[in-house]
Amino acid sequence: TAVRVKDRDGSEQTLDAAETTPLMETLRDDGYGIEGTCGGAMSCGTCHVYVSEAWAAKLPPPSEDEKAMLEAISDFAEVRPTSRLSCQILPDIIYDGLEVEIAPQA
Ligand code: FES
Repeated sequence: TAVRVKDRDGSEQTLDAAETTPLMETLRDDGYGIEGTCGGAMSCGTCHVYVSEAWAAKLPPPSEDEKAMLEAISDFAEVRPTSRLSCQILPDIIYDGLEVEIAPQA
């Protein structure tokens, strides 16, 4: 599945996201500086990405737990309406052509 990624330096690449793992793992393993310290338990916030406006509207909304984590990191990170935890972008919603931007390191 092709996912368009804007890196922290502004460069854009298309990566082939695995169809079996959350987007966080692909971003982490492909060297985008995503740490994913908690392994997807929604307790670290190091997998923060911005989904493009167009795509944010197409994804299912974040769960209450995801919203709570985004709220928690908003103390030190720029959380936008399109912010998502990439560990919660699971294979079934990694649509072909999805566009994300890696949020700045908090
Ligand atoms: Fe920790 Fe997503 S990997 S919140």
